[in-house]
Amino acid sequence: MDAIETLLCPADRDGIARAAALLRQGEIIALPTETVYGIAADARNGSAVAKIFKAKGRPQDNPLIVHIDDVKMLPGLVSEFPERAQLLAAAFWPGPLTIIMPRGPQVADECCAGLDTVGIRMPSHPVVRQVIEASGCAFAAPSANLSGRPSPTTAQDVLADMQGRLPLILDGGSCAVGVESTVVSVVGEKPTLLRPGYITLEDLERALGEEVILSGAILEKLAEGEVARSPGMKYKHYAPKADITILEGSFEQFKAYVEAHAGQDPACLCFTGEAEKLGVPCVEYGREGDGADQSRHIFRCLRALDEQGDRVVYARCPRKDGVSMAVYNRLIRAAAFRVIRL
Ligand code: TXA
Ligand code: MG
Repeated sequence: MDAIETLLCPADRDGIARAAALLRQGEIIALPTETVYGIAADARNGSAVAKIFKAKGRPQDNPLIVHIDDVKMLPGLVSEFPERAQLLAAAFWPGPLTIIMPRGPQVADECCAGLDTVGIRMPSHPVVRQVIEASGCAFAAPSANLSGRPSPTTAQDVLADMQGRLPLILDGGSCAVGVESTVVSVVGEKPTLLRPGYITLEDLERALGEEVILSGAILEKLAEGEVARSPGMKYKHYAPKADITILEGSFEQFKAYVEAHAGQDPACLCFTGEAEKLGVPCVEYGREGDGADQSRHIFRCLRALDEQGDRVVYARCPRKDGVSMAVYNRLIRAAAFRVIRL
């Protein structure tokens, strides 16, 4: 790929004006959202959207989410705004929720990977909202990592992956949520959770007043030959260079297992306050049982393991419900689905 000069600049008025101008010219830029940093392109401009896939090295069959700042932008992007989507939008937009709806004619084919649906999200981050307002563009934006790497939650992490691949990164500090948006589909017979996030299964059920189906690929590996409803879920994901194994059990069992495997020179991905008790190099990813705290730190911690050069890593197992479901979902992918019950 031809090297492009990458400018890292604060997400202030000048930065936002530059980002908006680049988007209008059919360029791609990186920016913060409340979930993770994204790479944005005008969702109506196919050649601009194609640049995202090139910069990330993303497989063409993995569709992108389109970001809006007002439901008034929906006509043309979706062919229908189903009642369930209206309920969810009223409850959670602006915020970390993506709703899969029937696709409208304005969305570039490149966004949708041949599907007749499109994922729409209205973020709450003020920078996103100002960029949309200044550019007039609904933008397609995946997470701003190289495909397969942990999602970036700081501008420096975006730069580490994207230097020379896009012209501008807006620096808006650390992302408050830290894991990507919850993805829910309302196109099937029953509403279905395709990717867990800060908005939980219970939150969705409460807003809809009905059961929400949990898609198969969320808490375990997709069976061989099974079709992913959310294409992104089938890829090896969030993978640090280290071999991570999740150990499910108490802290005492975890510590004993790590001690029994001292010969491997392991490092640990553990909960806050546990590092000093383990006696090996550790990265703490949040308070035990606190899914929101763990979400905020998990991707930075996966990158920190790589920066330390750790090779064998044992990870404490998060809970599988509530906001923690999102952390477990990302961590089992980073661990290539290696989970040992102690
Ligand atoms: O929080 C987020 O959603 C971030 C920020 C930047 O907004 N974006 C993000 O995008 O995480 P990405 O591309 O990394 O993840 C999009 C996920 C993928 O798993 C993709 O397969 C799924 O959403 N997806 C997108 N459109 C879909 C569709 N029409 N049907 C089913 N799944 C879809
Ligand atoms: Mg991603």
